[in-house]
Amino acid sequence: MQISGSIFPFFLLAFILISGASSTDKNNDFLECLTLQFQKSNSASDSIYTPQNASYSSVLQSSIRNLRPASNSPQRPSVIITPEHESQIQAAIYCSKKHGIQLKVRSGGHDFEGLSYISETPFVIVDMRNLRSISIDTEKKTAWVQTGATLGQLYYTIAEKSKTLAFTAGVCHTVGVGGHFSGGGYGMMSRKHGIAADHIIDAKLIDANGQIHDRESMGEDLFWAIRGGGGTSFGIVVAFKVKLIVIPETVTVFNVTRTLDQNATQIVHRWQYVADKIDENLLLRLFLRSIKSSNGKRTIGAFFTSLYLGPVDDLLPIMQEKFPELGLVKEDCTEMPWIESILFFAGFQGESLEVLLNRTQVSTLYFKGKSDYVKQPIPEYGLESIWKFLNQEDVNGAELQFSPYGGRIDDFSDSEIPFPHRSGNIFMIEYGVGWSQEENAKSQRHINWIRRLYSFMARYVSKSPRAAYSNYRDLDIGMNNIKGNTSYRQASVWGFKYFKNNFRRLVHIKNKVDPTNFFRNEQSVPPESL
Ligand code: FDA
Repeated sequence: MQISGSIFPFFLLAFILISGASSTDKNNDFLECLTLQFQKSNSASDSIYTPQNASYSSVLQSSIRNLRPASNSPQRPSVIITPEHESQIQAAIYCSKKHGIQLKVRSGGHDFEGLSYISETPFVIVDMRNLRSISIDTEKKTAWVQTGATLGQLYYTIAEKSKTLAFTAGVCHTVGVGGHFSGGGYGMMSRKHGIAADHIIDAKLIDANGQIHDRESMGEDLFWAIRGGGGTSFGIVVAFKVKLIVIPETVTVFNVTRTLDQNATQIVHRWQYVADKIDENLLLRLFLRSIKSSNGKRTIGAFFTSLYLGPVDDLLPIMQEKFPELGLVKEDCTEMPWIESILFFAGFQGESLEVLLNRTQVSTLYFKGKSDYVKQPIPEYGLESIWKFLNQEDVNGAELQFSPYGGRIDDFSDSEIPFPHRSGNIFMIEYGVGWSQEENAKSQRHINWIRRLYSFMARYVSKSPRAAYSNYRDLDIGMNNIKGNTSYRQASVWGFKYFKNNFRRLVHIKNKVDPTNFFRNEQSVPPESL
């Protein structure tokens, strides 16, 4: 529904009649303010959606990746704004401040806890989907990418322009640039090229006063904060400028599975001594699931899903020397251009590259995720205990991802950017458990399972603090009191786990750029003074 000047009073009346009093007043005031601001700047109002709008639900749901948070949320956004111009974001900030209604920003909607589209208090969403342009400078090897773009769009656009340029970021093509880059951005080339945030060289950000900044005008402190400290706390990032990376024209991929009767335990154990030290052109990612073997019995599947930046003939001698236990042979490997490896890892092999442009992938999955960092190899008996945990869940219902570190990730100091997980980490674990809508009545059983596993794993993972990856958001490790003031003490519980000592600097910067805590959510950095 378009909110034009002429139909607005009827809409307002209907809204007042349908809803209760006080929060409705705030919503109406916000909407009235927004419409006025849009009119002042001659903005079309078809980028404003309210629950009365026929497309409201589809706009809300189209980029929700995890149905769990949405199904538990007491509130739905009273307004969704899909700006096509920065002035519309400025209007949303102005009206949200004026009428005391919380504002959330969404780019790709992949937040594990849904913090970009749920809230306990009345709120509106600025959804960046229409701000998704990408411009590539192949000479200078740089790109400006608006935060509403997805990783798939970015990869596709780079590959259109060049066979030897690429970008280092996550695997899933529907992940949004806004949340991903501002929280880190680990992917299949991270051992060779680091994470996405390591390559940000400029940014466009709108602050709590509606001012638009580039790197120079925001200053180095704020520019540091948004490269891994989470965009949420500091402003709305409209675009990032990144340095592209140079890749060979041919890369090699493989996905090799080993089960328990093929020595999976010993091979996974050995992997821990190899994965962070092997040639940095090679990233051996490992997925672990409970599967059914050919005889119908449960076993553990260890899926070694890997990318080598070069031809297969260079890869094989490396594997034979450093990791012969896997028994990799040439027939397991496929050579391809880098952009096709994106399809391979996303499970779209054989499909056209255009599939990477598809951002609306309606999800049917409910899930809970968590993360850990491992600094000492887990002994074989520890792995066997993990297998027991995996076998307690349904076949393929739970997964552990072991993502190797080392290589270029270690070349940066812990405080170069807020993402602090550098030298000394062998690998990161992502724990995940998922279920369908039919199973959702038993969701607590799955959540209890992952919490039990996480508690068991304490003996094998990093300590003081037990580190976690902020892009794998987990409210179990602590959260702010969103209805009251966000206290430093409360936020420290989760803050030091995500950012280690960088958390102090993030708080200091927050205090400078947003002392009234306008940009906030359940895990946003608090200003010192509150
Ligand atoms: P979303 O829009 O939900 O935003 C996430 C957070 O950032 C929210 O708090 C939001 O308010 C804030 N935000 C978003 N846009 C902003 C903007 N423009 N300005 C300021 N704040 C903004 N990670 C990884 O490192 N490697 C990987 O391979 C993957 N793969 C992966 C697959 C799948 C299926 C999921 C669900 C998640 C991942 N992730 C990942 C994790 C992912 O990096 C993380 O969830 C990102 O924050 C998602 O960014 P979105 O913009 O999609 O999320």
